Amino acid sequence: MTKRVFSGAQPSGNMHLGNYLGAFRNWVKLQDDFECIYCVVDMHAITVWQDPADLRAQVREAAAAYIAAGVDPNKSILFNQSRVAGHAELAWIFNCVARIGWLNRMTQFKDKAGKNREKASAGLYVYPNLMAADILLYKATHVPVGEDQKQHLELTRDIAQKFNNDYGIELFPVVEPIIQGEGTRVMSLRDGTNKMSKSDPSEYSRINLNDDADTIAQKIRKAKTDAELLPAKADLLEGRPEAQNLVSIYAALTDMSRDAVCAEYEGKGFGDFKKALTDVAVTRLAPITEEMARLQKDEAYIDSVLRAGAERAHAIAEPILNEVKDAIGFMR
Ligand code: AMP
Ligand code: TRP
Repeated sequence: MTKRVFSGAQPSGNMHLGNYLGAFRNWVKLQDDFECIYCVVDMHAITVWQDPADLRAQVREAAAAYIAAGVDPNKSILFNQSRVAGHAELAWIFNCVARIGWLNRMTQFKDKAGKNREKASAGLYVYPNLMAADILLYKATHVPVGEDQKQHLELTRDIAQKFNNDYGIELFPVVEPIIQGEGTRVMSLRDGTNKMSKSDPSEYSRINLNDDADTIAQKIRKAKTDAELLPAKADLLEGRPEAQNLVSIYAALTDMSRDAVCAEYEGKGFGDFKKALTDVAVTRLAPITEEMARLQKDEAYIDSVLRAGAERAHAIAEPILNEVKDAIGFMR
C-alpha cells in the first residue's frame, strides 16, 4: 500500500507554538518521503460555535500558517475539509461503525464538554468519527500529531479494524501515529499542568504564531516559573511542571535534548534562562510570522491553493469512497 500522510488542525483561533512544535514542523519534514495531505478541519471547528466571517478568516489564517511553517503546496495537498464532501459521507458511515462505549471513553470530549455535557453539540461527541473519516478517506497510513491526539488515533484504528471485520474486506490500513520530538505536549505558560491551547481565555498562556518579537518577549517574561535554579539533568525537573515546560520548549526550538539544555544552563535562574529562551523563540518564529503576514495579504493566492488542493484531495478520495459504498451495499 502507498505510504500516505494525513493531518489537520482546527481553524478555531490563533495557531500557536504547540501546533508548531507538536505538529507543523513534523508535517514539513515528512514531505520529502511521503505523499502528504494537510487539511484545515473547518467541519471539526463548528462542533463549537464559530462566527461565519471569523471562520472564513481563520481558515485562510490556518492555511497561511501551514505554508509559512514550510508546507509546500506544490509537494503536499493543502485544502479545507468542508470542500470535499467525502469527509461527511464517510463520517456518517463511521457513526454507524463506532460504538457509543468507545466514544464515552474519549477524554477530549470530556474536557471540552465540561460540566455542561447535555448542552454540548452532538457533533462534539462524534468528532473522533469525523477525524477517523478524514484519515481513512485517503487510506492514510501515517498521521503526525501532538500527544493529545493519541487516543483519537487509537479509535481510528479500532474503527478501521471493525469495518474490515464486519464487511470481510481488507479495505482500510492500520494507521501509525507519528508523535515526535520534545514538543509533543507544550504546556500553558500560565499553568504547567494544562496544555497550551487555542481555547485558553488567557493570551498569556500561549505564544501565537502571529505574535511579534515584543509580544513573545513579554509573554515569556511573564511565564510562571519557580524560584529554584536549573538542575544538571532534566530528570531533576520532576515536580516542577512550569520549569519542565520552558526547558522542553527550548529543547524543541533548538533541536537539543532536555539534558543538554540543563547542562548548558545548570545553576542559572529563570531570569537568565527566559532571556535565552526569548532569543531562540524569536529567531525561530520571526520568519514564520513574517511569511504568515505576507501570505495573509494575498487572499487570492491562499484561496487558489485551497481550491486546487481540494480538487486533488477529491480525486484521491472518490475511488476509495466508492470501494466503501460497494462493500456496504450502497447502490451508486
Ligand atoms: P488543534 O489546534 O487542536 O487543532 O491541533 C492541531 C495539531 O496541533 C494536533 O496535531 C495537535 O496534537 C497539535 N497540538 C495542539 N496543541 C498542542 C500542544 N499544546 N502541544 C503539542 N501539540 C499540540
Ligand atoms: N482533532 C485534531 C486536533 O484537534 C485535528 C484533526 C482533525 C486531525 N482531523 C484530523 C488530526 C486527522 C490528524 C488527522 O488536533
